[in-house]
Amino acid sequence: MKKQWYKDAVYYEVNVKAFQDSNDDGIGDFPGLTSRLDYLADLGVGCLWLMPMYPSPLKDGGYDISDYRDIHPDLGTLDDFKKFLAEAHARGIKVITDLVMNHTSDTHFWFQEALKGIDNPYHDYYVWSDNDKKYAGTRIIFIDTETSNWTFADSVGQYYWHRFFSHQPDLNYDNPKVQEEMLDIVRYWLDMGIDGFRVDAIPYLFEREGTSNENLPETHAFIKRIRKVMDAEYPQAMLLAEANQEPEALLDFFGDGDEFHMAYHFPLMPRMFMALKKKDVSPVIEVLNKTPAIPEGCQWMMFLRNHDELTLEIVSTEEQEYMLKTYAPENRMKSNLGIRRRLMPLLDGNQRANQMMNAMLFAMPGAPIIYYGDEIGMGENIHLNDRDGVRTPMQWDAGKNGGFSNAAAHNLILPVIGDPLYCPACVNVAHQEAVASSLLNFLKKLIQVRKGLKAFAYGTIEILDTGNVRVLAFVRRTADSVVICVFNVSAEAQWCLLSLSSYAGKKMRECFSGAGFPSVDGGSYTVMMEGYGWYYLETE
Ligand code: NOJ
Ligand code: CA
Repeated sequence: MKKQWYKDAVYYEVNVKAFQDSNDDGIGDFPGLTSRLDYLADLGVGCLWLMPMYPSPLKDGGYDISDYRDIHPDLGTLDDFKKFLAEAHARGIKVITDLVMNHTSDTHFWFQEALKGIDNPYHDYYVWSDNDKKYAGTRIIFIDTETSNWTFADSVGQYYWHRFFSHQPDLNYDNPKVQEEMLDIVRYWLDMGIDGFRVDAIPYLFEREGTSNENLPETHAFIKRIRKVMDAEYPQAMLLAEANQEPEALLDFFGDGDEFHMAYHFPLMPRMFMALKKKDVSPVIEVLNKTPAIPEGCQWMMFLRNHDELTLEIVSTEEQEYMLKTYAPENRMKSNLGIRRRLMPLLDGNQRANQMMNAMLFAMPGAPIIYYGDEIGMGENIHLNDRDGVRTPMQWDAGKNGGFSNAAAHNLILPVIGDPLYCPACVNVAHQEAVASSLLNFLKKLIQVRKGLKAFAYGTIEILDTGNVRVLAFVRRTADSVVICVFNVSAEAQWCLLSLSSYAGKKMRECFSGAGFPSVDGGSYTVMMEGYGWYYLETE
């Protein structure tokens, strides 16, 4: 078992703009984030993923980059960033940043030049066509706003290609100069000392007529090229793939262990929510059974929520309808093919369900990531635009603007949650630090417990038959440790009988409580749980 930091770490996604404001302009920034590093270290976070922090018109949360080599002036300076990085490292926290390779903002210098004429040296940095009929087999991702993947540019009399918003032209990876530019950008940030990248929208780099224009062999070849550079020059750094794809397509992004180190497990996420609502763990078992083995050195990233909508792109139409009906009862909760809501309100504010879902996530074969604010059960504001409703200011205390900023409320990057159930007066870090039974203290402990269970980061998984659709059980195992995990996805007490003959005679310890449990006598083992109960049972 080779130890690798990225397999072990518990991750935390930060939206710097909304985390902590240090200069009272209403926008979170790097000095602010730096001042909150002790909080993150205390929580036990091992690696931060920063949403894009580059100069940008911010028409897509910063995923519309206008300069890959600087920091957005609202967030601070490059020196502020370097100071933050050093302070994070001093606390043993790694930092990965978002790398948006597929597209730039239309305000990027390259695109502005490209618009000047077809002879401009930058014109070929983007993908152009004389008509909008090319690549007709390609789906549109942002169906709420876009009607085509092509937009006409008057100045050159051609259409440019974009998989996302029309203000985000796709880069042309068939141009060797674009490949070189991106490799230079990769080196630029790794030279500065960051620990890797979350690579945005990776399936879409290349286009070929007659295909879906996703996951093309050319795209994989370019990823291998990046990985080769990283292995040779920055062997400690990690690459994480954002590819919203079926399990088989995801597997390809690991290559033979020579592409991504990690990839989000998109297929699992909606199935965990489905299991909870249906009080039936079959969707989770099904997806785990479909999850392929991945090359040595690779790891899944397991998540429940992030800064985007809870995406339903890779579930069946029937499952999609079920999810929308149960988790998005109001129209404004829907976004594209998903649900723009936060974890706690999705779970109807039920802390016990939340704890069980997190316990399940943490035991899955991968590394877990927490979306900022979800550790205190922050709420959402479905009246804000696009996905802003899940990107509101972090709630630190019950004071002005939830402790996020001293600016006037109307100057904040986004309004603080006002819903009486979720506003800072009810949901904030300071309060939850003081209350032993809070969600925050639960997660802090869960992170510590996971750190002690190497089988979670490195072990195999074997699903056990429970004879009860409300109960999921599996064994996580390495050569020298065995953890049997059991979860009740219903609000009612449940029991199950596990067949554990291979562990006959073994003593059991429940890891979260540290309590001794009955030994495994004979072959079968009875487990009883209260509603949303769960156990991590380690054999001794
Ligand atoms: C994926 C990001 O997670 C999302 O926020 C963004 O809108 C799209 N990529 C387009 O850049
Ligand atoms: Ca600020």
